[in-house]
Amino acid sequence: MARGTILGTGSFLPTNRVTNFDLEKLVDTTDEWITTRTGIRCRYIAGPGEETSMLAAEAARRAMAQAGVEAEEIGMIVVGTISSEMTMPSSACLVQKEIGAVNAFAFDLSAACSGFIYGLDLADKQIQANPDLKVLVIGAENLSARINWQDRNTCVLFGDGAGAAVVGAAENGRGIMASKLFSDGRLWDLLSMGPAPSQNPYINLSSDDSGPFDASLLGHTRPHQGSYIKMVGREVFKNAVRAMEDSIAKALSATGLSGSDIDLVIPHQANIRILQCLGERIGIPQEKIYINIHKYGNTSAATVPIALDEANREGRLREGDLVLMCAFGGGFTWGSVILRW
Ligand code: ACO
Repeated sequence: MARGTILGTGSFLPTNRVTNFDLEKLVDTTDEWITTRTGIRCRYIAGPGEETSMLAAEAARRAMAQAGVEAEEIGMIVVGTISSEMTMPSSACLVQKEIGAVNAFAFDLSAACSGFIYGLDLADKQIQANPDLKVLVIGAENLSARINWQDRNTCVLFGDGAGAAVVGAAENGRGIMASKLFSDGRLWDLLSMGPAPSQNPYINLSSDDSGPFDASLLGHTRPHQGSYIKMVGREVFKNAVRAMEDSIAKALSATGLSGSDIDLVIPHQANIRILQCLGERIGIPQEKIYINIHKYGNTSAATVPIALDEANREGRLREGDLVLMCAFGGGFTWGSVILRW
């Protein structure tokens, strides 16, 4: 049976680099607090012309160039994102236009920080059904547009960026060996981001306000509140460690491998302390866990493909290596993928 394997990777970051010292001027925080609590030292913040789809398209171009795959050969584009610049069309359709992937179907996938892991699983399943398919799996975010820059609890954590992988049918036993995906909507309010403003006045009414339907109200939008990221950090932290540990155990069990067989772990980068706890619990030493959170912060769905691209370009991945990717994010959503490089 054909399995999906990664033929090329790419990543792209906005121009503006913002350090913890820059944020000290914005909110009541310190470089020392941010570094010791999270591991983050700086992040990149999108400026004019650096929308989600633009970052995604640049990452995709780099991944296609490395894979030696032309845009016309791409049959499917999936963009994991929770920060598209448009609700319709999807970022994936804008990427399709930008790179000229005229033979693809394209859609966005909303699974927060797990978007790239979910996308890899989908690509693998599509390739099992159609081994000729080439899929662009992208994680891209512009979360700086959805952050309350007065809230020190969240604004120091996130950054913008994109990563991409071209996925095609595996040869010589390479490719995805197991993927395990999970979610739990019951815990949604521990990590959430409200909707864009509604133009329907009735949607904005509290239940006490609603009277008979008055069509003249249509078009009069009330001020919108609460569209920023909100997080109960400590609870998210505990759930992230437990959930990723569990999904890794299930993926290892599905392959018959143990933690000591894994050559490199490429985890979601939300907090260095989460990754230290996780490493201890799954029995994988820190030197086998790829970490770049100090440079980029939490770029949500983009952290795993950016880290994958960096590890790949640094020569950390050799043919035949066993690579474990895992993520956890809002929803809650989480999952793990094991592949032979
Ligand atoms: N600077 C200074 N002090 C701060 C800051 C800041 N930037 N932010 C919070 N504090 C303060 C708090 O106000 C609190 O003060 P108090 O004790 O006087 O009330 C104190 O620091 C401790 O706050 P905690 O929230 O308890 O700190 P904690 O050690 O838990 O660290 C953090 C917070 C970094 C958010 C951590 O909980 C975490 O990383 N959680 C998980 C994040 C995550 O995994 N997200 C995953 C997915 S994201 C996605 O899906 C989009």
